[in-house]
Amino acid sequence: ARVLLVSSEAVPLVKTGGLADVITALAVSLRKVGIDASILMPAYPEAVRNLGDTVQIGLKHGLPGGAGRLLRGTIPGTDVPALLLDTARFRQRGANPYVDTDGVEFSDNALCFADLSHAAVAICAGETSLPVPHVVHANDWHAGLIPCLLKLRGLDHVGTMLTIHNLAFQGNFALESAEQIGIPEHLLTGDGVEYWGKLSFLKAGIRFSDCVSTVSKNYAQEIMTPRFGCGMDGILSFRKLDLRAIPNAIDAELWNPADDPLIARNFSVGNMKGKASCKRDLQKLFGLPIDPFAPVMGLGSRMSHQKMADVVIEALPGIMERHPRLQVVILGCGDHDYEAAFLGLAERYRGRIAVHIGYDERRAHALHAGSDMLLHPTRFEPFGLTPLYAMRYGAIPIGSRVGGLVDTVCDADLDPKHATGVLFEGETAADMQHAVARAFALYSDTERWQSVQRNAMSIDCDWAGPTRAYIEAYAHVADMAVRPLF
Ligand code: ADP
Ligand code: GLC
Repeated sequence: ARVLLVSSEAVPLVKTGGLADVITALAVSLRKVGIDASILMPAYPEAVRNLGDTVQIGLKHGLPGGAGRLLRGTIPGTDVPALLLDTARFRQRGANPYVDTDGVEFSDNALCFADLSHAAVAICAGETSLPVPHVVHANDWHAGLIPCLLKLRGLDHVGTMLTIHNLAFQGNFALESAEQIGIPEHLLTGDGVEYWGKLSFLKAGIRFSDCVSTVSKNYAQEIMTPRFGCGMDGILSFRKLDLRAIPNAIDAELWNPADDPLIARNFSVGNMKGKASCKRDLQKLFGLPIDPFAPVMGLGSRMSHQKMADVVIEALPGIMERHPRLQVVILGCGDHDYEAAFLGLAERYRGRIAVHIGYDERRAHALHAGSDMLLHPTRFEPFGLTPLYAMRYGAIPIGSRVGGLVDTVCDADLDPKHATGVLFEGETAADMQHAVARAFALYSDTERWQSVQRNAMSIDCDWAGPTRAYIEAYAHVADMAVRPLF
């Protein structure tokens, strides 16, 4: 069977978050069991550079945003075919594909990503030299128009699936853009693609996909409630019967402390000696005093409201006071105000808090390998790969009790025997400080701490299970591809 995965990101071509990790890992895993999976994504300059050699494939017709062509290559280090949609607009995108250097969304995003969906439809319609897929698997709002466009053209022979990696990103644009991007007026209603006076790419995906999925069991439940539904809880509940939860997994080869070339010294659950060298390396890398006895807490995520950067900034002074030996290592980028505030804290607590603003794969590995704990607060979390990476390296997550974290992190007080971390409720500085204090109490009890570390490092995070679940969903939608939705 042939499956076309459509996404805006895929490692190692372009990545701003967990989506990129998941798309490539899933494609690799699908191919391992004989599914002919390929990835369609935009030809951002960085993606073109990282893909290497490509061949050109023409599109029979123009796209709403102008002319386009496909560049076909193979994702480095894998056997996954990648198709990059090359348009003049995508070619202009810089380091961040969605926002300019001031953090403002590009004004032609609707047109750019409509082009991506139209290109997928062209492939499904046999308007390229590529074989027609049995299933198109759209990921997040960037690919949200595909199911709708396919239905509009009566291309019912291709099954459609939409995976929501983050409901907060919806791709909502002015209704006036509809005509230009090929959405007819009769669909601009609440029953169609209209959402609070906007045209929503994500809603279009939810409304017209044969099957919808999201990336953890708990998040699948949460998004049908007003608190986590981001205004989409109604339509998601409406599609409840077609809503699946397929949890992510992690690339256990890439994130393996026993065999990670990016860390100072390898270690494993059976031999933890190397972790001390990794702590020393991390302290050196971030310019902190080398102190093997200092507890180190890492923080590595997008500096955003979702990841509660505001609360961390407020809570850190209290945390530093309460735990006088603590060192904090922060890696991330995002909202410029948060970045500045973190740098301010590093200044104020020189020698105790160190901050690196930027996106840095090597530092991310060093962070997990060298930290004792990972602070991972978040207001909502569809899955949350980062705490799993930390757990593999024996860095104990202190995370929010929301979304996927409820499924992947087992709280030390709730279930001491199977504990893998500390989970907390609430969004205040006091809630966070209390959770850190609980982690410290655990840390001071060496026997308990080591048992939590052992549990955390041994978690099952293999792609085999999720891959089977996706194949089951694909089989289901390929089968029902003949059912017209309107
Ligand atoms: P989200 O996708 O919401 O950002 P996840 O935790 O699922 O959350 O995935 C985040 C991914 O991005 C992880 O692979 C993490 O290691 C990576 N990441 C985030 N910020 C950085 C950074 N500054 N440098 C390196 N990797 C980062
Ligand atoms: C999103 C979510 C994150 C999830 C990732 C991959 O970026 O915020 O929780 O792990 O997608 O599905």
